[in-house]
Amino acid sequence: MELTVAVTGASGTIYAQRTLQLLAQSGAVETINLIMSDVVPTVAQVELGVNLREPNPKKINEWLGLAEDAKLIRYWRLDNLAAKPSSGSNKQAGMIVVPCSMGTLGAIASGAGTNLIHRAADVCLKENRKLILVPRETPFNQIHLENMLRVARAGATILAASPSFYHKPKTIDDLVNHLCYRILDQFDIPHAKKTQWTGEEVTEA
Ligand SMILES: Cc1cc2nc3c(=O)[nH]c(=O)nc-3n(C[C@H](O)[C@H](O)[C@H](O)COP(=O)(O)O)c2cc1C
Repeated sequence: MELTVAVTGASGTIYAQRTLQLLAQSGAVETINLIMSDVVPTVAQVELGVNLREPNPKKINEWLGLAEDAKLIRYWRLDNLAAKPSSGSNKQAGMIVVPCSMGTLGAIASGAGTNLIHRAADVCLKENRKLILVPRETPFNQIHLENMLRVARAGATILAASPSFYHKPKTIDDLVNHLCYRILDQFDIPHAKKTQWTGEEVTEA
C-alpha cells in the first residue's frame, strides 16, 4: 500500500510522529509520501523539542526511530507541485492530514490551495480516494465548522484529534496511541491494540 501523510502546523505533532511510527511498524505500507508544512518545525520544537528544520530523509528517519537508511518514507517538499502525490495518476490508497490546522482545512475546503498538501488532498477528493483529516483547534468558530462540513460532504473523513477515555488511558502515550490506532483503522491497517468496543455491562453505582 502507498499512502500520503501530511503534517501541518496545528498542535499535536506527536500524533503525526506516532501515526508514522505505527504505519512503519504495521508492515502494511510500502511507501509513505511525507509532506510537512512550513510551520511544523516551529510546533515540533515547541511541543517535542525536536529540530525538524530543513528536513531530509536521514533527519526524518531519526525522528521516527527508523534506520538511518530506511526507504519507507519518501519526503516531498511543500513547494514541489511536481511531486508524486500531486497527480491523480499516481495510484495510492489515500492521504492522512495529521494534525490538520484550520488554515489547511480552509484551503482544502475552498479548493483553492496553493501548496503540495492542498493539492494532494484535492487530488484524493477528485479521485474518490480516502482523505482523513485530523483537525485540532478549540473552540471551533463557525468558519471551521462549515469547512469541516464542506470537506466531509466532498468525501473526506473528519477524525477529530479528540482523545477518548473509555479505554482507561494511564499515560499521554496511551491517549496518543489510541487516536492513532483509529487513524490506522480507517485503512484497515493492523496494529497492536484492538480499538473495537466490544461492549461492557454497566452497573449503577
Ligand atoms: C505552537 C503552535 C500551535 C498551534 N496550534 C494550532 C492548532 O491547534 N490549530 C490550528 O489550526 N492552528 C494552530 N497553530 C497556527 C497554525 O500553525 C497557523 O495557522 C499556520 O498558518 C497553519 O499553516 P499550515 O496549515 O500550512 O501548517 C499553531 C501554531 C503554533 C506555532
